[in-house]
Amino acid sequence: MNRIKIHSLLQSKTPLDQVQVSGWVRTRRDSKGFSFIEVNDGSCLKNIQIIAPSSLPNYDEIQRLTTGSAVGISGSLVPSQGKGQSWEITATRISVIGPAPETFPLQKKRHSDEYLRTIAHLRPRTNKYGAVFRIRSELSYAVHTFFRDRGFRYIHSPIITGSDCEGAGEMFRVTTLDIKNPELKDRGLDATRDFFGKEASLTVSGQLSAEMFALALGDVYTFGPTFRAENSNTRRHAAEFWMIEPEMAFCDLSGNMDLGEELIRYLINHVLRECREDMELFGNFVDKTLMETLNHILSSEFIRLSYTEAVEILKTSKVSFDYPVAYGIDLQSEHEKYLTEIHFKKPVILHDYPKTIKPFYMRLNVDQRTVAAMDILVPGIGEIVGGSQREERLDVLQDRMDEMGLLKENYWWYLDSRRYGSVPHSGFGMGFERLIMMITGITNIRDVIPFPRTPGNIDF
Ligand code: 4AD
Ligand code: MG
Repeated sequence: MNRIKIHSLLQSKTPLDQVQVSGWVRTRRDSKGFSFIEVNDGSCLKNIQIIAPSSLPNYDEIQRLTTGSAVGISGSLVPSQGKGQSWEITATRISVIGPAPETFPLQKKRHSDEYLRTIAHLRPRTNKYGAVFRIRSELSYAVHTFFRDRGFRYIHSPIITGSDCEGAGEMFRVTTLDIKNPELKDRGLDATRDFFGKEASLTVSGQLSAEMFALALGDVYTFGPTFRAENSNTRRHAAEFWMIEPEMAFCDLSGNMDLGEELIRYLINHVLRECREDMELFGNFVDKTLMETLNHILSSEFIRLSYTEAVEILKTSKVSFDYPVAYGIDLQSEHEKYLTEIHFKKPVILHDYPKTIKPFYMRLNVDQRTVAAMDILVPGIGEIVGGSQREERLDVLQDRMDEMGLLKENYWWYLDSRRYGSVPHSGFGMGFERLIMMITGITNIRDVIPFPRTPGNIDF
């Protein structure tokens, strides 16, 4: 089987004899004595044009080739006569590897994102989704490079967990009990008889594990799937998503904000440099202002502003929000949008939130009312990063847990880290899909995940 990719062929500096490519037919048209076939193999946005002369022994079969069929081609790479491409292949042999009948759902026309979600198994064969998932892959690589270059160690935090990191109760339960058993209906799920002998769930965040490792290896990060059973059907929430979570020992909130800002800039720069062609597609067809927005994020100083100041700005804005603003509310997406898109027109880092709306592990400030939290908001997305300096003082942490009604026994190991060699430390979580949305201009999280999981939707 041929494994040369169209992406590398198109980089060629010279004509080449005897090249072989394989891919899927995008379009085909006949001309006198020739058939022109556009083939794409997913290695890049561009197709390669194949010239099939009528002298080929299976020319009849070639003339019946339909969109979506898989083909293998041998021939020579020659400068293209036509416009729009620099190279084409004059074929000496074309084999039909896997035909696609006319029922192939991706005929050459623009399909709506909504329709493409119903055929999520085929959508990566379109230009747009091919580009999304090449960029997603490239960004994962860049995340690891960013941290590795800065001496961070990669930690694999568990997916099945016994603790609710965020304390929001949005966990998917993991059980091997036979929930169809009628006896269970009356008795309820008895965790002591379950697989782990305790309640188990899918993790909402790898942070608690990452903290333990930061207090051993220094600077660490996790990057993996996280799960939330929030029943909110919005454009920016998924039930399964990926999170990047750095955690730094001996680091305060301002160092944490610096890292978040640096990471965002690094990833944008990386994609603009490495995925130029795919990014042009998003700039031309998804969001005409995309390049301007990204360049603006790169060149802007991120505004740093306390929650209290943000609430004041929102209150005096004279905008009538659906959700009224008052000190102590959790900011809604309309508020985040106002701050980052209208008021500042820049990324904004909000810090020092009221303790009442944040999880137990955030460090209590001297005012006793706020915690050392920070969220990064970006235009078009709203919250992309959520993080904090952690409470490293054992007594304060225990008081907070009591206040919030958490069972300290379940967190004995977490509290141990504050008993033995506790140090100031900080970290954050960046939603990987929100990052991809920001970078591609795609406005629905369902369109940047291969097979999205949202309330009522577990197809594929
Ligand atoms: O702000 P969150 O809830 O923070 C945490 O989970 C912390 N434990 C992270 C840490 O400090 N290590 O989530 C972090 C980010 C959000 O800013 C958002 O980008 C993303 O994760 N996120 C989601 N993305 C998609 N779908 C959802 N349902 C998400 N919930 C959070
Ligand atoms: Mg958050």
